[in-house]
Amino acid sequence: RILIIDFGSQYTQLIARRVREARVYSEIHPPTRSLEWIRAWKPTGIILSGGPNSVYDNGAPSTPSGIVDVAPVLGVCYGMNLLAQLHGARIAPGTQREYGRAEVEVLESSSLFSGFGRGEKTPVWMSHGDQVTELPNDLEVLARSVGSPVAAFRHRDRPLFGVQFHPEVAHSPRGGEILANFLFDVCGAKPDWTPGAFIDDEVAKIRAKVGTSRVICGLSGGVDSAVAAALVHRAIGDQLTCIFVDTGLLRLHERDQVERTFRRHLGIDLRVIDASDRFLDALDGVEDPEQKRKIIGHTFIDVFEDASASVGEDVKFLVQGTLYPDVIESASPTGGPSVTIKTHHNVGGLKPDMKFGLIEPLRELFKDEVRNVGRELGLPEEMVGRHPFPGPGLAIRVLGAVTRDALGVLRQADAIYLEEIHEAGLYDEIWQAFAVLLPVRSVGVMGDYRTYENVVALRAVTSTDGMTADWFPFPHDVLARVSNRIINEVRGVNRVVYDVSSKPPATIEWE
Ligand code: XMP
Repeated sequence: RILIIDFGSQYTQLIARRVREARVYSEIHPPTRSLEWIRAWKPTGIILSGGPNSVYDNGAPSTPSGIVDVAPVLGVCYGMNLLAQLHGARIAPGTQREYGRAEVEVLESSSLFSGFGRGEKTPVWMSHGDQVTELPNDLEVLARSVGSPVAAFRHRDRPLFGVQFHPEVAHSPRGGEILANFLFDVCGAKPDWTPGAFIDDEVAKIRAKVGTSRVICGLSGGVDSAVAAALVHRAIGDQLTCIFVDTGLLRLHERDQVERTFRRHLGIDLRVIDASDRFLDALDGVEDPEQKRKIIGHTFIDVFEDASASVGEDVKFLVQGTLYPDVIESASPTGGPSVTIKTHHNVGGLKPDMKFGLIEPLRELFKDEVRNVGRELGLPEEMVGRHPFPGPGLAIRVLGAVTRDALGVLRQADAIYLEEIHEAGLYDEIWQAFAVLLPVRSVGVMGDYRTYENVVALRAVTSTDGMTADWFPFPHDVLARVSNRIINEVRGVNRVVYDVSSKPPATIEWE
């Protein structure tokens, strides 16, 4: 397994994902880990990430120099400069910043560049201001670029390598090969991190932790809680009870889908609580988005607590679908890359009630890995490939006050929209697509009549993590079909508009 020490680069998570895509387990840790801790973790290899600092800055983050005796080390960007500096190299601000696409020329053959010929040039992604200007005798230059006389180096006698460029990003097309060379040729890692191996491992851990106790799991209808539940069910079968709260704010047929998948397909003990009256009464007349979120969050916790109490006294554990990006301790100044999304997601999530022990079987996984584990567990594609859906549901997509009628209109429009997206084969290209019911009416004409009815906005975005997003460039015929169908089939709607705002400055949701 590979230890990644994070010096705050925006690409650190990508390093971890690339390593895992090569089927080698990796974890990200802050530079404050002690040498003893690192030794005890038993890494097969260590990767030092990039970062925003200069190694000669006051208080620049570092790592114990003794790591080079623990395992082979690859330094990337800042990590390379640090590794070079620890061996007596000189680092200085470059005469020019090298940012963006560049080309490196391989000067020497080595295990890191196996598969590359001497003199071969390859495009890479650079993002640095500093450069290594002078190498001591025991370090050897392996590659150079126009802006970096030392674009890669190795230690002559020990398995220590540095690359100034970022092999982990897609703009370095052969970066994956370089990382794989480090993992397999240099570190001798084994490609045994697979969904199947993960499941076997987790099943054993869950059984040992739970014993004969009962366990509950709240299902949201989303991927994470679905996969967590299926995994825990694989481990302890009937000891697990799942609870699904129908908030009255769900999409068309969502509740049926959850019942079908969990009760019929997986045979899980599922309790569906219809709490729609409770939610809609509490939301009556409320227009402010944050107020809606608070009300929904609190109501959810109340309903869930009642439901879990009714499962029985011997419930000792609660399953949560926490993912790895939520738990990484990061060196980045914001305290972690996913803080912004997380506060959102906790709204409408479950309060970790201290009565229960927590089971978080997905804590080590990235989203794409969760999906693969779900597939391996036999969850249907319509469940594992789903777009994210916010906890407050349609309440934040009916702008302004939420009524049953408005929810009905939105539900129909949304279902038509998604149906046409599936029909056009575009669902998997989109991060999220949904309809929004606007609190305005507009004039239209249908037959000989003048109408004065609702406007539906369509939103579809591409994104990798929800933090930034671009609007999706639909083919016009798809938009035309969706608009036609909504206006013809949904009573009360006479106008459809498409949202062409990116995030930032807009957000993905409208509220
Ligand atoms: P925004 O609208 O902030 O959304 O660009 C980013 C991502 O977060 C989701 N979202 C929420 N998820 N509770 C949730 O569980 C919320 O209150 C909430 N608000 C936004 C949104 O759907 C998108 O995926």
